[in-house]
Amino acid sequence: MATKVGFTRQGPSEWTELGNPAYLRQQVEENLFSLGLDHIDLLQLHRIDANYSLEDQIGELAKMQQEGKIKHIGLSQVSIYQLKSAQKITPIVSVQNRYNLIDRADEDVLNYADENHIAFIPWFPLATGKLTDDSQLTTIAKKYDATPSQIALAWLLKRSEVILPIPGTSSSEHVISNVAAQNIALSDADFDVLSKMSTK
Ligand SMILES: NC(=O)c1ccc[n+]([C@@H]2O[C@H](COP(=O)([O-])OP(=O)(O)OC[C@H]3O[C@@H](n4cnc5c(N)ncnc54)[C@H](OP(=O)(O)O)[C@@H]3O)[C@@H](O)[C@H]2O)c1
Repeated sequence: MATKVGFTRQGPSEWTELGNPAYLRQQVEENLFSLGLDHIDLLQLHRIDANYSLEDQIGELAKMQQEGKIKHIGLSQVSIYQLKSAQKITPIVSVQNRYNLIDRADEDVLNYADENHIAFIPWFPLATGKLTDDSQLTTIAKKYDATPSQIALAWLLKRSEVILPIPGTSSSEHVISNVAAQNIALSDADFDVLSKMSTK
């Protein structure tokens, strides 16, 4: 079970970061209650809030880890500098940053995670659906009797051993298809072609 804390939500598409340690603790307690758990396996800090010190935010999560409420701590949408700073406070097992075939702005963070055996969880792995009917992916998908979404996920899985894609879906058929993407052995040549797709 993995979840995140550190945002308030005022309405659709309205998110405000809040790293007040008391609020982070409240969110963990609320998650434990609503999920019916005695601990959360992976608790990720959604964003580092510049209004509070990193020590206060990560320190509160580390306290809850010592109390047995959290097993592992992860971060989301961070730079290498922020990741290294957090690592000085407590072990960080994962980073959840935006990353997909056509959005690779955080390549440096992925490389750092790879070198340091930290899980990299790319959010928007299907570029919010833009990759599900991409023509270049469709062409390659035909060779593997696969779908474009599966090829986009297979590319991520081949890109690095530390990548754990989290495609979002409202369809059980898509869940099954997305999980099956792990069985696609993308050739090096097709991986290279896809790696040259233009990015933002
Ligand atoms: N850390 C952060 O700050 C952050 C921010 C945003 C999002 N996230 C996380 O990122 C994850 C993914 O985000 P997302 O769902 O917005 O983007 P996404 O995974 O890139 O794309 C989801 C879209 O792809 C479609 N899709 C999924 N599987 C498909 C398939 N096999 N065939 C065809 N279409 C398919 C879905 O439609 P259907 O419903 O029809 O399948 C949906 O429209 C979520 O877990 C979310 O919580 C994290």
